[in-house]
Amino acid sequence: AEVVIVPDAAAAGVLVAEEIVSLIRANPDAVLGLATGSTPLPVYEALRSRLGGVDVSRVRGFALDEYVGIDPSHPESYRSVIAREVVEPLGLDPQRIRVPNGSLDGIEHAGDDYERAIVAAGGIDLQLLGIGTDGHIGFNEPGSSFASHTRVKTLTEQTREDNARFFDSVEDVPQHCITQGLGTILRARHLVLLAFGEGKAEAVAAAVEGPLTASLPGSAIQLHPHTTVVVDEAAASRLA
Ligand code: F6R
Repeated sequence: AEVVIVPDAAAAGVLVAEEIVSLIRANPDAVLGLATGSTPLPVYEALRSRLGGVDVSRVRGFALDEYVGIDPSHPESYRSVIAREVVEPLGLDPQRIRVPNGSLDGIEHAGDDYERAIVAAGGIDLQLLGIGTDGHIGFNEPGSSFASHTRVKTLTEQTREDNARFFDSVEDVPQHCITQGLGTILRARHLVLLAFGEGKAEAVAAAVEGPLTASLPGSAIQLHPHTTVVVDEAAASRLA
């Protein structure tokens, strides 16, 4: 992977936002892979002031993941987060932005439906990724197959604790999720993994330089020919 060390998250946001703007200018039908959580927020923030005069009417987007069994109208469902942080502020067409369907009704075919939709859109051009402290990308927790497709997974206790800040308590964090698989992610044409802060340093080093292992799902990025890792000094601190 190409590793870019930036002074702070805001600088990373600008760098990646500019890459996304060039992509959309070159291809108004661009397909974006959208991440949630805290990490990509500076990218979405930087995009707000940079998309003026850019035709985004045909841009498509696919979120990485969603909680299972959360009401879609819950403010922390990834459907709500993507609407609030991405679709509305950037003026994207909500019909063209998809989030995996985490409703229990139809959950058994939601993963296959999502895979088909990504293929029908022509695949993802640029996939934004964060990384969990346990090394997950998407919600592919340790033990995920490198060939996996979009499917239901169980969140680790670590991830539920890490995400408790978005809920009233850790008990309110859903136990399950539906996530693009590592195989799905690896089919995107360009992976852009972002990480900020000391807490991510170990996961970043393991993903970028460690052995390829399902125990550290982020290491799957080493299989991809076009990966850009954008980190601040703290998140880069364990890299050799
Ligand atoms: C979010 C996702 C996760 C997060 C990861 C880091 O869609 O797929 O892999 O990127 O849990 O979360 P933050 O950015 O909140 O530290």
